[in-house]
Amino acid sequence: MKILVVGSGGREHALAWKLLQSSQVEQVFCVPGNGGTASLNRCQNLSKSVDDFEGISNFALQEGIDLVVIGPEVPLAQGITDYLQSQGLKVFGPNKAGAQIEASKVWAKTLMQEANIPTANSAVFNRAAPAKSYIKSHGVPIVIKADGLAAGKGVTVATTLNQAVEAVDAIFRGQFGRAGEFVVIEECLTGQEVSVLALTDGLTIRPLLPAQDHKRIGEGDTGENTGGMGAYAPTPIATVNLMERVQKQVLNRTINALRAKKIDYRGILYAGLMINPNGEFKVLEFNCRFGDPETQVILPLLETPLEELMLACVEQRLEQMPPIAWKQGACATVVAASGGYPGTYEKGKVITGIAAAQAAGANVFHAGTTLNQQLITDGGRVLNVTGIGENFEQALRLAYAGIEQIDFEGMYYRRDIGHGILDFRF
Ligand code: AMP
Ligand code: GLY
Repeated sequence: MKILVVGSGGREHALAWKLLQSSQVEQVFCVPGNGGTASLNRCQNLSKSVDDFEGISNFALQEGIDLVVIGPEVPLAQGITDYLQSQGLKVFGPNKAGAQIEASKVWAKTLMQEANIPTANSAVFNRAAPAKSYIKSHGVPIVIKADGLAAGKGVTVATTLNQAVEAVDAIFRGQFGRAGEFVVIEECLTGQEVSVLALTDGLTIRPLLPAQDHKRIGEGDTGENTGGMGAYAPTPIATVNLMERVQKQVLNRTINALRAKKIDYRGILYAGLMINPNGEFKVLEFNCRFGDPETQVILPLLETPLEELMLACVEQRLEQMPPIAWKQGACATVVAASGGYPGTYEKGKVITGIAAAQAAGANVFHAGTTLNQQLITDGGRVLNVTGIGENFEQALRLAYAGIEQIDFEGMYYRRDIGHGILDFRF
């Protein structure tokens, strides 16, 4: 098989790496990929943009690509799947109608309310004045969300009225363009966040191992939100009992609700959950794609060939697949970020020590790098240094032994990834 992966982050490096482990996969192409995918055997980067649907389609048809896997949400929300399918290609990733579940929080909230999926109480506004009155009558903490895609920056968990009002003003001032035509104002939930990524063919839906990520930039989960500074799986917080309830109350209900809307959703449905100390949960958000960096800790533990699962989704025969097989043990990843991230940062710094990190037993997925004779930084999140072990302690030790070998000017990483399950820091 020949597979084309669309995207350029750590998630796409992990997807390409995993797909290439199968004897059935002859070659992987990445659009545009990164320095990590460029270094994989039997993997080639193509210098096309992820929104060049026609260019991607022409290449895939000429090359005889058997499966196209879409990583990021933006091309999904723009309809890449609809376009490539119309050209006769097989695509893993929902169509534009399905991608609304991530691309519009108003749409997703309505679906959750209609389908009785547990979620935070909320209200929707298209003007600032009533939004502010609602905030004043409910008090803080309160959560303000721009409706559309905002690259992870559209949510404010406000602890003061000023912050909440300022977040509403920023959205209606047009900070997020059309993504900010509506705001969702939501009750603030507390507890532990768990990411449940599930494979679906539009009829059957099966979860992958539950993961947790650390979204904040600072140790102790403080400071600004980021795309994710580290992750681990399988999280012990998501017990078998909890996962059974998630299957019934979230995954099955969502797929049934999508079907009722005549949406044929094939790909990953990612439910971000908040779990309180009593084991009750509510959905914080849905994503229409693999999580990043959750994918980097889930796929190393997957034993069933990934392309078989993806094809079963695309060909709508997931129900006939045997149960998904997993390796015993645990996986953890630590993100090496550029100094200044998630604010402004510089790119183009020379990265050293990857081979030494691998020699120390870590697996290094590239998140924002380019190979230009030398390997240089090319994003806020640069590397995902990953450990796979018999337990969390071993996995985290390998990840940290690896990251200590790596260097680039301004490099920053958190030393407390996994602090929820291990009570020490590295
Ligand atoms: P979202 O873009 O909806 O994933 O939100 C980003 C992050 O904001 C989540 O991962 C949570 O950490 C936080 N968040 C979102 N909704 C809520 C909520 N209702 N209560 C508390 N935190 C939230
Ligand atoms: N790690 C969070 C996300 O992928 O949205």
